[in-house]
Amino acid sequence: MNKVTIKDIDVNGKKVLLRCDFNVPLDDKLNITDKTRIVAALPTIKYLLENGAKLILCSHLGRPKGQVKKEFSLAPVAKELSKELGKEVKLAEDVTGNSAKELTNNMKEGDIVLLENVRFDPREEKNDDTLSQEFASLAEIYVNDAFGTCHRAHSSTAGVAKYLPSACGFLIEKELKALGDALNNPVRPFVAILGGKKVSDKIGVIDSLLEKVDTLLIGGGMAYTFFKAQGYNVGNSVCELDKLDLATSLMEKAKAKGVKMLLPVDNKVGKEFDPNTESKIVKYSEIPDEWEGFDIGPETIKIYTEELKNAKTVLWNGPVGLFEFDQFAVGTNAIANCLAELKDCTTIIGGGDSAAAVTKAGLADKMTHISTGGGASLEFIEGKKLPGIECIQDK
Ligand code: 3PG
Repeated sequence: MNKVTIKDIDVNGKKVLLRCDFNVPLDDKLNITDKTRIVAALPTIKYLLENGAKLILCSHLGRPKGQVKKEFSLAPVAKELSKELGKEVKLAEDVTGNSAKELTNNMKEGDIVLLENVRFDPREEKNDDTLSQEFASLAEIYVNDAFGTCHRAHSSTAGVAKYLPSACGFLIEKELKALGDALNNPVRPFVAILGGKKVSDKIGVIDSLLEKVDTLLIGGGMAYTFFKAQGYNVGNSVCELDKLDLATSLMEKAKAKGVKMLLPVDNKVGKEFDPNTESKIVKYSEIPDEWEGFDIGPETIKIYTEELKNAKTVLWNGPVGLFEFDQFAVGTNAIANCLAELKDCTTIIGGGDSAAAVTKAGLADKMTHISTGGGASLEFIEGKKLPGIECIQDK
């Protein structure tokens, strides 16, 4: 990476504005239900504190659309961080207003202030220069470690870097190394598993992976668009009729590139979108009318796990079934279990739902790397430039 990192700069006695991705899931009582992103931010936070920084943290949480809404407050994050760090993390009542200014004015080394949800300010998502300047006026150095938000060009993720010396944190460095090594320098065979609902969400990703992988295993809702493109009935399964030509051209590209692109040979179909709906296993070519495909079937699991057993690098993005419903989580869990048992294989899990599935299966610590970024890791795999990284000064 040719970007400046926190190891390259002197933060002693300086006010550092650190952008994190504390976009954590909350339950009805506003308790954090998955702390992964907070834990992932700790190495950078601790390093900056140990090196004498006065730390000003900021993040978004959810999509409050420029309005102040209590349910999107970072208060639960401030509480959790205080617990993790064993010291008080003061929460400002606003983003860059009087409370933020007051709390960040007379900071001592080792002090920590967390600004309120940056998306409470309508200027944030517009990457408005006036807000970027207000962020900059609070600090002397800007550090971005919000990998999960690096694909957004917002004031706190990109704009502010125009006005302060900037650096990346350890999480961004770690994510770029893990994803970059897998994509650009994989030990082969390199197998990718792609799931998720729609082909249209993953066009760029499939296209880019076909340049790099040896084998591509397709699962999830998107498989049915590929079946339909081959002329099969898909019943009530998710299917993007306007993407049939695209599905065909992706299959042709795989053939031309010599990539083994596999589709499910059987599926578990259900009558309704209901956890307890009646279900059965059918061949890919025999999905009955009125039934909907919700998971890969046992024969497909066998074929896919055999492929994975030979892999030396695996990249997984998107569950292969409706894993939120137990009876349709069999395929996704089988993939997760198979990856957990692989020896001498680098296993990279893209963020979002596949990360949630691995965590739900209790196998997170068995993977080489689980990305904290859903959209960000997809855009990185597509080969797109991420504004939150581009904005950081070069070495
Ligand atoms: C995420 O959860 O993927 C990131 O925090 C980005 O959130 P956003 O999609 O609301 O920008």
